[in-house]
Amino acid sequence: MARHVSLPGQMESQQLPPLEQSDDRAAYEGVLRYYELAKRAEWQVRDLPWSEMPPIPEYKGSPQKLARRRDMWRSVVTQQLQADELAVEMATQLFRMAPDPEAKLYYTTMVQDESRHTEAWLRLVDAAGGRGEPDPYLDQLAKMQIEADTLEEKVVNMQVFYERLIIPRFRLIARSSRGTVLEDLCNRLTIDDGIHHGSGMAYGRVLIENAPVKTKKKIVESSNRMLPIFAQHALWRPKARELVGALMRDTDVRRLREDLETGVRLATSLGLDVSDVQIPS
Ligand SMILES: [Fe+2]
Ligand SMILES: [Fe+2]
Repeated sequence: MARHVSLPGQMESQQLPPLEQSDDRAAYEGVLRYYELAKRAEWQVRDLPWSEMPPIPEYKGSPQKLARRRDMWRSVVTQQLQADELAVEMATQLFRMAPDPEAKLYYTTMVQDESRHTEAWLRLVDAAGGRGEPDPYLDQLAKMQIEADTLEEKVVNMQVFYERLIIPRFRLIARSSRGTVLEDLCNRLTIDDGIHHGSGMAYGRVLIENAPVKTKKKIVESSNRMLPIFAQHALWRPKARELVGALMRDTDVRRLREDLETGVRLATSLGLDVSDVQIPS
C-alpha cells in the first residue's frame, strides 16, 4: 500500500510515520538509497570550468575546416540539449505518477538533475555558437514516452533503457573532447545517468514484481513500437555530421545492435518475458 509523506511544498492532511518506522517498505530501500546518493552527487553549473577551458575542441586549419568542425560539435551539443530538455518533462511525469513515497522523493532529485543538465547544455550551446538541427526521431520517442499509459512502461523505457544506453555515448564524447567544458560536463553526466539508471532498475524491479500480466504485456508492446524509432534515432545524422555519418555507418549499426542486446538483457533481469520483443534488423 502506498503511504504519503510530506514533500517540500506539499501539504498533507494526515500525520504519518517516518519512512524508517514502516516494516513493509523493505522492497523500496534500494530506491531510497539512490535518493541519498543523488543528493550527495549533486553539482552546480557554475562548478564547470567555464573560464579555464574552451567550451568545445579547438582546431588549427583553414576557416572552412574550422567552421565545419564547429558545426559538428554544435550539433553534438544540440542533440544532448534536446535530450535533456525532453528528460525534464519525462522526469516530472515520473515524479507526478509514482505512487510510492520513496520513489517520489527520489524523483525530486531526478527532476532537479535533468533541469541542471539542460541549464548546462543551454550555456554550452551558446558558447559553441548556437543551436544546430534537432533530431526528429528523438522528439518522436519522447512523445511516445510521455503518452505511454503505465508508469511501468515509462520507468523501463526511460531509466532502464535510454539512461543506460547514453552512458557509453557520454564516455565517447568525453574521450573525443579532452580539455574542454564539454568533456567535464559529459563526465558528470556519466555519473548522474548512472544514478538515474540504477534507481530505475531498483524501482522497476519492485514495480514489475507487483505488476499484473496485462501491464507486463504493455511494456513489451510499447518496446515493439519504440524500438524501430530508436533504431532510426541511433542511425540519424544531422547535415553537419553527414560526412562523418557515412564513415561511421558500420560503427553506428554495430553500436545499435549492442544497445538492443543490452536492452533485452536488462529487461530479462527485471523479470520481463522478452520472447515477444521484435528486434529491428
Ligand atoms: Fe540528463
Ligand atoms: Fe538522466
